[in-house]
Amino acid sequence: MKTITLETQMQVYDSREELPEDLLELLHQAEEAATHAYAEYSHFQVGAAILMNNGKIVAGANQENAVFPCGLCAERVAAFAASSMYPEVPFNKIVITAINPDEPLKEPVAPCGSCRQVLFEYEQKFGHPIEVVLAGQEGPIYHFHNVATLLPYTFHAGFLPNEVRSKR
Ligand code: THU
Repeated sequence: MKTITLETQMQVYDSREELPEDLLELLHQAEEAATHAYAEYSHFQVGAAILMNNGKIVAGANQENAVFPCGLCAERVAAFAASSMYPEVPFNKIVITAINPDEPLKEPVAPCGSCRQVLFEYEQKFGHPIEVVLAGQEGPIYHFHNVATLLPYTFHAGFLPNEVRSKR
């Protein structure tokens, strides 16, 4: 038996003043999107803004439902919209943020596993890294250079039987 350590890396901006201009603009769009959340049950409003490789920005907010599992996270709302509008365009960057109605979120919001998996699919599809930037309402901002670093040892299409893969 041996132990294997999986390492990951991110850059930390101490505050939004340190963010490069394009990321700040994308953060503003994600913040705006968060205010459009339909968060009837959790009241936790999440916004995601994707910068596409054609310069377009596609944003999304979480959408909840009285049947809880029918709701969808902001990241997937944005990613599915982006892929529907521009199916052949890679994603360059995604900025994710959230609004906590109780008190301002002081740490960057962490995307759930399903959203990481969905973003990984688009990263693989285009063979193009998607930078992931996570922000709270204040405090530091985390910057991952690609989705793979956020989801080590990921399930991918290579695991699927040949029969399934050949239909892709
Ligand atoms: N949520 C997101 O939209 N993205 C995340 O990364 C984490 C959670 C949403 C789902 C649900 O509407 C609410 O936040 C509470 O979980």
